Amino acid sequence: MRHAGSNARLLEPQPEVADEFALSVVEGLSRPRKALSCRFFYDARGSDLFEQITRLPEYYPTRAEAQILSAYADEMMAEIARDSVLVEFGSGSSLKTETLLARAPDGIAYVPIDVSESALASAQRRLEARFPNIAVRPLVGDFSLPIEVPPDLSGRPRTGFFPGSTIGNLTPPDAVELLRTFKSTLPRGSRLIIGIDLKKDARKLVLAYNDAAGVTAAFNLNLLVRINRELGSAIDVASFRHEAIYEPREGRIEMHLVSTIEQEISIAGHRIHFEANERIHTENSYKYSIAQFQELALSANWTPAHVWIDDEGQFSVHELISG
Ligand code: TRP
Repeated sequence: MRHAGSNARLLEPQPEVADEFALSVVEGLSRPRKALSCRFFYDARGSDLFEQITRLPEYYPTRAEAQILSAYADEMMAEIARDSVLVEFGSGSSLKTETLLARAPDGIAYVPIDVSESALASAQRRLEARFPNIAVRPLVGDFSLPIEVPPDLSGRPRTGFFPGSTIGNLTPPDAVELLRTFKSTLPRGSRLIIGIDLKKDARKLVLAYNDAAGVTAAFNLNLLVRINRELGSAIDVASFRHEAIYEPREGRIEMHLVSTIEQEISIAGHRIHFEANERIHTENSYKYSIAQFQELALSANWTPAHVWIDDEGQFSVHELISG
């Protein structure tokens, strides 16, 4: 069930959700095809590793998207009104957003939404120092649930921002549902600036998710480190290896953790058996052609407007209008 009201709240301490973590892990590893939810990647170490991924030579999406934003921020911000609210879903460090905020009219408000309070707090400090005329109003919460902007901003026009190809981490039906959910925050006529990685040569894709320095491997394996620490398990992390493959039929990169040996592990009192080479599916990253992504947007009743791509045609940023 989705909640009717707002699920985000103002910046304040968050209760522990260890039980939800345990339940989800045990449920996922009890399936015939084992899986772990990618929601759990982002503990403190996971967030740090992810920042490192974005700087890897093989990981082109962050750089390509940054190039698009800096080349076209003026166009992206051209139609934004002085009293607009820019709402970012899963803002993290808000680094990319600075490029847009630097070209936005004075007087706009910026509402970053993220589950990480510490990321929001440091982004707020940095942005307020750099942009004294922009009101920064963070909300702690899960952007996949309907979110209400703070009441004093509620009458103002809105633009959403959802960079990083995060929508590509959902299956297409879930992506459509998320785009529909965004409409509760971005009503008819609102704009959404959304980044999505493009389909390309499979070798290039696989390298981006299987870097030579092993950072993406450490990021993936950190799920097991987190289970050990937070759920008191004793999984031998070295008995698992990272795997990233491109699945052309689905048009997606899949990340897995592969048990290199037959073994049994114990999590929150549950024993879980692995065959040698049995896999845990941990993440998908769907890739779209421009036309495929526009079709997806249309099926969620968003009208495609502009598309911007980088010089090498690797990544796309779409402007969609809420219908
Ligand atoms: N959404 C981005 C992508 O799919 C970033 C990302 C999410 C990612 N999860 C990841 C990158 C796991 C590497 C590994 O590329």
